[in-house]
Amino acid sequence: MFQNKTKMISTKAKNITPFIVMEVLERASILEKQGINIIHLEVGEPDFDVPSCVSRATEVAIKQGKTHYTHSLGDPELRQEICNTYLKNYNVCISPDQIIVTSGTSPAILMILYALCNPDDEIILSDPGYACYPNFISLSGAKMVKVPVLEEDGFQYRSENICSALTNRTKAILINSPMNPTGNLISEETLKSIASFSPYIISDEIYHGLVYEGRAHTILEYTQKAFVLNGFSKLYAMTGLRLGYVIAPEEFVRPLQKLQQNLFICASSVAQRAGIAALRDADADVEHMRNIYNERRKYMIRRLREMGFRITVEPTGAFYVFVDASHLLSDSYKLAFDILEKAHVGVTPGIDFGENGEGYLRFSYANSLENIIEGLNRLEKYIQELKSL
Ligand SMILES: Cc1ncc(COP(=O)(O)O)c(C=O)c1O
Repeated sequence: MFQNKTKMISTKAKNITPFIVMEVLERASILEKQGINIIHLEVGEPDFDVPSCVSRATEVAIKQGKTHYTHSLGDPELRQEICNTYLKNYNVCISPDQIIVTSGTSPAILMILYALCNPDDEIILSDPGYACYPNFISLSGAKMVKVPVLEEDGFQYRSENICSALTNRTKAILINSPMNPTGNLISEETLKSIASFSPYIISDEIYHGLVYEGRAHTILEYTQKAFVLNGFSKLYAMTGLRLGYVIAPEEFVRPLQKLQQNLFICASSVAQRAGIAALRDADADVEHMRNIYNERRKYMIRRLREMGFRITVEPTGAFYVFVDASHLLSDSYKLAFDILEKAHVGVTPGIDFGENGEGYLRFSYANSLENIIEGLNRLEKYIQELKSL
């Protein structure tokens, strides 16, 4: 009977792989319900509340009745603010007509791939890379072509590896800098080289602004043949408000608009008012959060190194440290769950990010320094016990 029921589930849905970090989180919450204290170093979600200008803007929006559908492309004021931000931060001039405001970056990835790909078109992406990209690509019917990025290169793409992955079916090269899971930035030189290839570039810039050394460059500084993805979840700690956007080449705006109208209608009107406030008035809050993240980053790198984890190129962006833990156990899934069960610390197994992430663990420093200290103390004890076995 049960077998018959599962037969009804589509192949697409069956083939979607779970987002393992969420499974760690769900197991952690079962342990928490049993009264066990868990330190969360697995989730990639800011521990900060939204900036006060953002919460004020949401209240005002509701009071003023800004609770209706907006234009499918987004609130014109927000689209103008996004242009102002790209001009101020990168000196690139974009038009509000190129912007589609979305309910977070996630639907934006899906819409771009739907707008771009026919069955069997190919998308080049890095391995390791953000866990959800492969599922978005397969749902769109395209094929993924994974290019390894190596620890010794600071997890940067090697241009020659991209070059040899290009075929006449390549539709786009997907990049993400600062990168999840590694926290590394793609260098200006590599960005230029990637931009010189002929397919479209899809550049996920969601961690822009969370950079502690050096500076992030938008792909639009080097090519117009690009889709930029960005959002408010990370920089403005607005994960639950669900707001993001695409900056698209002109010819793709109408197709993306039609997808948005049908699939999502528009992004949340209240979140869009909050987004305007964030872009206009939250610089000081962002600076404050960035300084705190940086302090945690330095602490985490130092402690992980002291525990014997090799960190070849220090991560300088996002809020992640990605370390090889294969000397403890080569199966990162088993290791992460063992750490959770025995040390009561949540970490993300590297396998969540691709085959080349196997053996690694991702630590997130989007948690208070106090919790990070406690979490790493517990981990140190766990490692000592493991070694004494
Ligand atoms: C690289 C990357 N892109 C996109 C997302 C999704 O963000 P959003 O909350 O805007 O959907 C995440 C979330 O962790 C991410 O790490």
